Amino acid sequence: MDHIARLRASLGELDALLLTGESNCFYATGFLGEGATVVTKQGAYYITDSRYTEAAEKTIGAAAKVWEMSRENPMSALIRRALEEAGAVKVGFEEEVMTVAQHKVFAEKLSCELLPASKLLTSLRGSKDEEEITRLVAAQKIAEGALAQLLKEIRVGMTEKEIAARLQYLMVSAGAEKLSFDTIVASGPNSSMPHAVPTERKIQKGDFITIDFGCVYQGYCSDTTRTVAVGEVSEEQRTVYNIVLEAQKAGIAAAHAGISGKDIDGAAREVIEKAGYGKYFGHSFGHSLGIDIHESPNASPTNEEPMPVGAVISAEPGIYLPGKFGVRIEDVLVLGEDGCRNITAFPKELLVIDG
Ligand code: GLY
Ligand code: MN
Repeated sequence: MDHIARLRASLGELDALLLTGESNCFYATGFLGEGATVVTKQGAYYITDSRYTEAAEKTIGAAAKVWEMSRENPMSALIRRALEEAGAVKVGFEEEVMTVAQHKVFAEKLSCELLPASKLLTSLRGSKDEEEITRLVAAQKIAEGALAQLLKEIRVGMTEKEIAARLQYLMVSAGAEKLSFDTIVASGPNSSMPHAVPTERKIQKGDFITIDFGCVYQGYCSDTTRTVAVGEVSEEQRTVYNIVLEAQKAGIAAAHAGISGKDIDGAAREVIEKAGYGKYFGHSFGHSLGIDIHESPNASPTNEEPMPVGAVISAEPGIYLPGKFGVRIEDVLVLGEDGCRNITAFPKELLVIDG
């Protein structure tokens, strides 16, 4: 997982990279903090402040020099020094991350040409290495263990917020560093809102509960969604659930490196459209994830690019019937040349919990 070497090997026409986004700095150095990373053809530097210096040195070790900024030597001065040591003229920066204000300062203070390089970063991060996949698998495992325990505890009368809080506790106490995004627990009619925020609504018999949740382990995100029924399930709920499940399976069957994101999405979307629910599936089949919960490339109708080997994408079709209920089922896939590995083991057949 020597990402500095990977970044250096991708410099091409560039003399150096200047990374200011937290996630890209973590990708390069393995350290999560506030700072900037400079990768030149010869060296690598992580420039931070005294809040992070000791921790950064411990984590980064010999992979990069850790330089501490101060009032006398602000970040821009240290970046300039690092670039000048390497004689770097063409310097790539993350135009999708750097603020306009930061760019203005760097354009004034650095004696180099700043060139957009976000694509280089997204392309490298879009293809995960073995170590990254190991971490993603571990994060999924922690999350799934927490869900298994949670489902034993859900009772009629519990609120969505209580369920979300318990799930979050279970993930962190099982070793997660933090959540990969705000947990979604959407019950009954709330489940027709794909990204509903947990409320004080109490769980009732006959509800669908959509639980979309994830945690971060060693810097990498998990993402899982399950929709479960409480006590009983109507014919319509069962039908819609099974359509979503079939759609997800079709998308998973189509997923491999080399196919476009559009075609993976299309394989799943076709099942939902043929069943007459096309207009109730508004979002994409999936997104990449890794250090961030939403990364590129996407398994979406607009992505015509072939998926790379090592892409890690979510498989999360859904059907949302306003005022009634919604269903989403989400796994995470690692794409290889001949197919994909599903790193989500949690069962997907419709589960009716006692409540
Ligand atoms: N699971 C949350 C999301 O993909 O947006
Ligand atoms: Mn997702």
